[in-house]
Amino acid sequence: MPHDFMPGLAGVPAATSSISDVDGQRGILEYRGVRVETLCSESSYLETAYLLLFGHLPSPREFQQWTTDVTHHRRIKFRIIDLLKCLPESGHPMDALQAAVAALGMFYPGRNVKDVENNYWSTVRLVAKLPTIVAAWARLRHGDDPIVPRDDLEFSENFFYMLTESVAPPVWGEIFDDCLILHAEHTMNASTFTGLVTASTLADPYTVVASSIGALKGPLHGGANEEVVVMLREIGTPDKARLHVEHALRNKKKLMGFGHRVYKVKDPRATVLQELCRRLFKECGSSPLYEVALEVEAAAGATLNGKGIYPNVDFYSGIIYDKMGVDVDLFTPLFAMARVSGWLAHWLEQLRENKLFRPDQIYSGEHNRPYVPIDQR
Ligand code: ACO
Repeated sequence: MPHDFMPGLAGVPAATSSISDVDGQRGILEYRGVRVETLCSESSYLETAYLLLFGHLPSPREFQQWTTDVTHHRRIKFRIIDLLKCLPESGHPMDALQAAVAALGMFYPGRNVKDVENNYWSTVRLVAKLPTIVAAWARLRHGDDPIVPRDDLEFSENFFYMLTESVAPPVWGEIFDDCLILHAEHTMNASTFTGLVTASTLADPYTVVASSIGALKGPLHGGANEEVVVMLREIGTPDKARLHVEHALRNKKKLMGFGHRVYKVKDPRATVLQELCRRLFKECGSSPLYEVALEVEAAAGATLNGKGIYPNVDFYSGIIYDKMGVDVDLFTPLFAMARVSGWLAHWLEQLRENKLFRPDQIYSGEHNRPYVPIDQR
């Protein structure tokens, strides 16, 4: 059969899905048909996760049950903590997270992915435990004890509590929750696709999520949020932004946090994140990084907007996390904590009509080469 090779599978559908939709020309992102901006103003991360996973907004009873289930599964086994303690503290938190999530599956050995009830509890555990693992690693690597989650705190409040041992101002919890909503799902991106390839072999969900975490880490995907803040710090002050951008683009360097395979206008999540930045600054004072970022956006726009390249979700998110005192290398793990609900929604959806991913290739090598013995080469 003849094939059209599409590098990076650009524009090639890999699934039929009703979970989310992106209009890359108009800058619209919907989860289950609901605009992401609406979810940020009206919903919470846990409710949005339910919407993604189960296809509808929960009734009060469903939401109560879901919240209780997730809240009661936040704790992690001491052996997972022991495992984290064994990892080098200089290691990247995404690697620690990936290792811990893969190991998590060993504690919950029900591997039959046709067992609907087991799948529900795996979903609950993964949504509940990723923040605990991220926070535990963040503390352990600095020699501090991990903090046990508090059932009386909401999802985002509890994460900050586990990170810092103090309860953050309510507005932080709200802003962080919105950040999680914005990162929860995004159609057939690289990490979701990776998870689906793994899932198509009927591997267990811990393995699926561990493989997605690996794909998210790279700087062309979720890892860009970290690189953006490193770049903004390097630039230092707004007056140096234009020179930096011009120099980078002249040397054919990509600007991290810009560009997207699907969006040809500004990523709607970047716009909401900017609003969240401004809300946070009103409460806690501004961030010099934001002023630099605005200048970078303006300077880059002159060259890149004509090519349909604008800030993406990774451009402004790190500024918020930085202002909240989160270490730069934890930014991508925060992304994973949110995106786990999207990954699992796709996993559950695919299980209903699974087919092993086994694409083709276009062979470009030789045929019938002779074998030359080693002493004659
Ligand atoms: N800075 C400068 N130029 C860019 C950028 C950028 N950030 N992104 C794309 N371009 C240019 C490329 O140099 C290329 O130019 P050319 O045609 O003159 O050679 C053209 O735009 C097409 O770029 P590709 O990388 O082929 O396009 P693709 O659709 O694969 O790009 C990607 C998507 C990988 C996200 C790209 O924009 C990029 O590398 N951005 C920087 C990394 C980043 O921010 N990643 C996060 C994306 S959002 C997410 O995953 C959560």
